[in-house]
Parts: sequence; structure tokens; C-alpha cells
Amino acid sequence: MSINAGEFDKIAREIFAPAYPAIAEQIKDHTRITKGYCLDIGCGGGYLGLALARITQLNVYLLDQLQDMIDIANKNIAREELEHRVEGIVGDVHQIPLPDNSMNLVISRGSLFFWEDQVKAFREIYRVLAPGGMTFIGGGFGSEQILRQIEKKMLQKDPQWSEKRQQRIGKQSIADYQDKLKQAGISTYDIAHSEAGMWIIMHKNTEV
Ligand SMILES: C[S@@+](CC[C@H](N)C(=O)[O-])C[C@H]1O[C@@H](n2cnc3c(N)ncnc32)[C@H](O)[C@@H]1O
Repeated sequence: MSINAGEFDKIAREIFAPAYPAIAEQIKDHTRITKGYCLDIGCGGGYLGLALARITQLNVYLLDQLQDMIDIANKNIAREELEHRVEGIVGDVHQIPLPDNSMNLVISRGSLFFWEDQVKAFREIYRVLAPGGMTFIGGGFGSEQILRQIEKKMLQKDPQWSEKRQQRIGKQSIADYQDKLKQAGISTYDIAHSEAGMWIIMHKNTEV
């Protein structure tokens, strides 16, 4: 599955926009991590990481494997005048260019469906997570109400959109994520699942 940066960014800005601040609030409420370092993996134009930076004091790295996405993210960072706390980096989740135990929070929205080797990716994420750190990795739209608004617009573009969404976050895929986490040797996690989204919340113990 490949992604066209410009086309996806148009959808993110014009259709998905209300979801990012809603998810950022959920991440803040759920994790209560508001300081330190955060990594947004598969950040696209950086809208989730930027929404979280606006409501916290986090220093945020926006990471994407596509240079075109990071170019868009860098423009968004500059537009929001957040260069002192937010930085775009080109990189792959399977080989994250950051040190062990360095990130207090790792977030990712809508990207894990594209990862070639999720076991390897989960291991990498756990490696960079700092002791006491948490993740919020998955897919979603913030609330059922926002999902319904977005769904209405997306169905006009792609009549199969709802089925595809279900395949990615349905019960079967959750069992599969649990299996992959086990293979990655990660046992301290929860999976939050609702109509509006599915999120893998890993916890790294303070003693490693
Ligand atoms: C559907 S977009 C989501 C973008 C953004 N998180 C959002 O919610 O607007 C998926 C993103 O994941 C990125 N991606 C896919 N595989 C990746 C990988 N192996 N490493 C890093 N980024 C990846 C893609 O380039 C794309 O920007």
C-alpha cells in the first residue's frame, strides 16, 4: 500500500481535521504525560503531534518515512511557530533513528496498517520508550460524532471506506495485534477499542 503525500494531506486538512485535536485531548487525559519527549510515528503532515504540542509542554519529533510528508510537516511546524519544540525527521518505524529509552510518549495514528513487520516495529517502539513511558498507537477519529461527519464525506470519495476501516480495527485485527505484541516480547499493554478508534497503549516499567 503506498501513499501519495499531497493527496493524503488534502484529506487530512479538509476532512480529518476535527479528529486531531480530539485525539490529542484523549492522549493527554489518558496518559497524563505533558512534559519530556514525544515521538509521532508516521506523522504525515504532523497534525496529531502538533495538536498535542499545543496543549502540552512536550518536545515533539514528527517522524515519517516519506520526505514529502516531512516537507509538509515542516511547513506546518513553521506556520504554528513551534520550531523550538517540534522537529520533523525522515525515518522508518522499523529502524527508529533515536536512542534507547529516550521518548516519554510514542504516538501514531493511521500508520501501523502500513508497517511491513509490525513485530519489529513494536520492538523498536518499546526500545525507544523511556522507563515510565507510554504509547498511544492505532487509528481513530476522536469520537463517534466526529467519525460520522468524516464518514459522510469519505463515503462520497470511496463507497468501501467503512468496510476497510472495520477490517483495520475490527475484533480479528485486535487478536492479531495481541499476537504480534506477544511475539515482540511486550506484555505490559492495554488495547482501548471503541467505535471511534483502536489504540495500543504500551507501558514501559520504570525498572528496565
Ligand atoms: C494514513 S497516513 C497517517 C498520517 C498521520 N498520522 C495522520 O493521522 O494524519 C500514514 C503515514 O504513515 C507513514 N508510514 C507508513 N509506513 C511507515 C514506516 N514504515 N515508517 C514511518 N512512516 C511510515 C506514511 O508515509 C504516511 O505518512
